[in-house]
Amino acid sequence: MSKILTFGASSSKKSINKRFAVYVAHCIPNADVNVLDLNDYEMPIYSIDRENEDGIPDLAYTFKEQFKNSDAVVISFAEHNATYTSAFKNIFDWISRIDKNVWHNKPMFLLATSTGGNGAVIVLEAAYSRISRRNSNHISTFSLPNFNENFNDSMGITNPKLKSSFESKLDEFISKI
Ligand SMILES: Cc1cc2nc3c(=O)[nH]c(=O)nc-3n(C[C@H](O)[C@H](O)[C@H](O)COP(=O)(O)O)c2cc1C
Repeated sequence: MSKILTFGASSSKKSINKRFAVYVAHCIPNADVNVLDLNDYEMPIYSIDRENEDGIPDLAYTFKEQFKNSDAVVISFAEHNATYTSAFKNIFDWISRIDKNVWHNKPMFLLATSTGGNGAVIVLEAAYSRISRRNSNHISTFSLPNFNENFNDSMGITNPKLKSSFESKLDEFISKI
């Protein structure tokens, strides 16, 4: 059994990225899937003053610990104003203060989707660029445009071209776990 940590990098209760991330995690054979909800990790907005006065919140340690305890990680990023959602960025800022090994060097599958045609590719590029600097393990990426037209929960990706490109990325990721 591989322990797969997954979440949508969004705090929306109806997050399409959470749906997509959970779907992809379950595509991995023999996976024990641990799904996080960013709403369970809401912390004060990061500031150096808060850190100096009150320290790093326990929730940041709890969040980071789950990376340590996993064999691989699947994250799907929502794009807000061409970058991370505030919910994800705040968690990222806090956990980056614990130690430099932010992601515990696990193989990662970084995804992104949106209801529009760009598939949240800008935030995906930003996430890959940042995370790959601090994680020397393998990182696969895939962006799914027009989520509502190209995905359903029972069949997964319905567009044949996108499905084929997704499956080669998935195979690549699985081979690194
Ligand atoms: C404040 C805000 C900013 C957004 N900015 C972008 C954007 O820059 N690019 C984009 O593709 N979609 C943008 N969207 C649309 C989101 O991609 C869409 O709401 C998507 O469902 C978010 O993913 P989620 O359901 O996983 O939260 C934005 C939505 C909100 C609420």
